[in-house]
Amino acid sequence: MRYFIFTDIHGNLEAFHSIIKFSLRRKIDHYLFLGDLVGYGASPNEVIQKVRTLKPISMVRGNHDKAVCGLDSVQTFNPIAASAIFWTQRHIKKGNKTFLSKLKKGPRIVHRSITLCHGTPFDEDFYIFGEFDAAEAFLHISTPICFFGHTHFPFVYTKKDNFVEGTFLAGDKNEFKLEKGTQYLINPGSVGQPRDRNPKAACAIYDSKAKKVQIFRVEYNIKQAQKKIKEQNLPFALAERLSVGI
Ligand SMILES: [Fe+2]
Repeated sequence: MRYFIFTDIHGNLEAFHSIIKFSLRRKIDHYLFLGDLVGYGASPNEVIQKVRTLKPISMVRGNHDKAVCGLDSVQTFNPIAASAIFWTQRHIKKGNKTFLSKLKKGPRIVHRSITLCHGTPFDEDFYIFGEFDAAEAFLHISTPICFFGHTHFPFVYTKKDNFVEGTFLAGDKNEFKLEKGTQYLINPGSVGQPRDRNPKAACAIYDSKAKKVQIFRVEYNIKQAQKKIKEQNLPFALAERLSVGI
């Protein structure tokens, strides 16, 4: 099976279009989504409609999805993120809000071999920002591989003989083979709001037969996404950060 894994789109339709186009040029059996369809970007409705056409076999919700549909408060959000949540709440269509409210809480297990979560398998809102957090997460994973999002940084953590090691996945293409006896915790990076100083949209392909994971960065029309954010009077910083990837 070849899985296409994507996360943290955050209402950025231009970035989302670009990774979908990228996926359609490759052989993909299933789409897997790790949360945060909305928040920050100016196209929440279009992103939700588009994700539905892909028919992912599994999707988990993100903290922004929860906040927009009222399942969580914005208390933990910074002022800019909170103001984007309020804007999204005012603009989201009823049916799309219902769709967000029905997204499943992670973790979810796919084909008895892949775990999906937004933050971590033990807490959907917790951030994995280092080996200590990853070690805690590994205690809650029963599959050889787990994909997570939330931090917007492409990263792989491995656990072998109780030793956890993390590697930042720099550059526009990374590829690694999965080794027997090693467990993997992988963040493909964010589609719509990368924060690793690489502004290109991020996504991953996992080939379970070849036991190979590839992380890709794909160019998209950043100017168009920024224009929409500015036109909607969303915080200016949300547009600016896209061109630098922070
Ligand atoms: Fe996010």
